Amino acid sequence: MKLKIAVLPGDGIGPEVTEQAVKALNAIAAEFDHKFKFKYADVGAIAIDKTGDPLPEDTLDLCESCDAILFGAIGDPKYDNDPSAKIRPEQGLLRLRKTLKLFANIRPLTVYEQLLDKSPLKKEIITGTDIIIYRELTGGIYFGDKTLSDDGDYASDLCAYSRHEIERIAHLAFKAAQNRKKKVTLVDKANVLESSRLWRKVVTEIGKQYKDITLDFMFIDNAAMQMVLNPTQFDVILTGNMFGDIISDEASVIGGSIGLLASASIGDKYAMFEPIHGSYPQAKGKQIANPIASILSAAMLLEHFDLYDEADLIKKAVAKSIELNITTPDLNKSHGQITTTLVGNFVEDFIYNPSDSNMNFQNIHLGQSTII
Ligand code: IPM
Ligand code: MN
Repeated sequence: MKLKIAVLPGDGIGPEVTEQAVKALNAIAAEFDHKFKFKYADVGAIAIDKTGDPLPEDTLDLCESCDAILFGAIGDPKYDNDPSAKIRPEQGLLRLRKTLKLFANIRPLTVYEQLLDKSPLKKEIITGTDIIIYRELTGGIYFGDKTLSDDGDYASDLCAYSRHEIERIAHLAFKAAQNRKKKVTLVDKANVLESSRLWRKVVTEIGKQYKDITLDFMFIDNAAMQMVLNPTQFDVILTGNMFGDIISDEASVIGGSIGLLASASIGDKYAMFEPIHGSYPQAKGKQIANPIASILSAAMLLEHFDLYDEADLIKKAVAKSIELNITTPDLNKSHGQITTTLVGNFVEDFIYNPSDSNMNFQNIHLGQSTII
């Protein structure tokens, strides 16, 4: 298959983790005889520094001309600490999602047996957790009208949803549940918010078309508690933009590190693949950032094009790296020397030689691998 992929490394650790994902994709292309062409462009704080715009026109044009987008991370502390900044890196990502109509953000939580004790939660609570979050990505409070009064003392953000926006992601969530444990939990705040009551009404109607699926409802505050109290009760979580943002960071704790969680942002025409983590500016350039979320986002990209064997090989490589404890310091306090690049090298090497991975591991430790 021929694919033209836009790579938007972005800010902070974005470039170093994205580099590992591209290495994995290049290895897949070589092994499976695909042609992947990568085209790079700026987004976020780095784009503001260069052009004054977090999403320069060239970047958007490139994304629109590619088959898929691989996104790194966005954000810079100099904007976080300046609430009056009119131009912000995050606007780049939000505009990209909105312009390309990437309405469904799909965030799977995979729990690796070997990492159960890395979670701050008890092993007996989290064992067997397998959740996928369907987060609406182009509506809700993120995109509703915003106001700030002239004197700067009053501000508002409108949370608005239309039936259509709810329907299209609800269908995706129900379909996903059909291939899983057949349960959808709608997370909302329908006891308070009118927009949440519309979600309940529309999702209930759509649920009737999926007779094999159990539909559950949960208020966001309770869901936040249930996520750490009894996460195995969840299968597919369907929710709006803001609740999905928050609950997915919380869910990542179960897996041991937010650095493991990948996502796919899908629309009718375009698709973007992005780790759920942020730009982690404190780690930039230090080679301590976990590249697995980015590498697994590359696997989701392959699945999007029905390249399942290819995606499985990446997932196997990741599972092996975890099994062999070839992980960055977020998961591996005793092995400070396992760098971002080293994890990427292992995954790349595994793709080329899956059966020699133990030997590769030895080589990586001895610094003898030809690819280091
Ligand atoms: C995410 C991020 C973004 C979001 C930020 C960077 C705008 O937190 O992808 O989860 O809030 O959607
Ligand atoms: Mn987030």
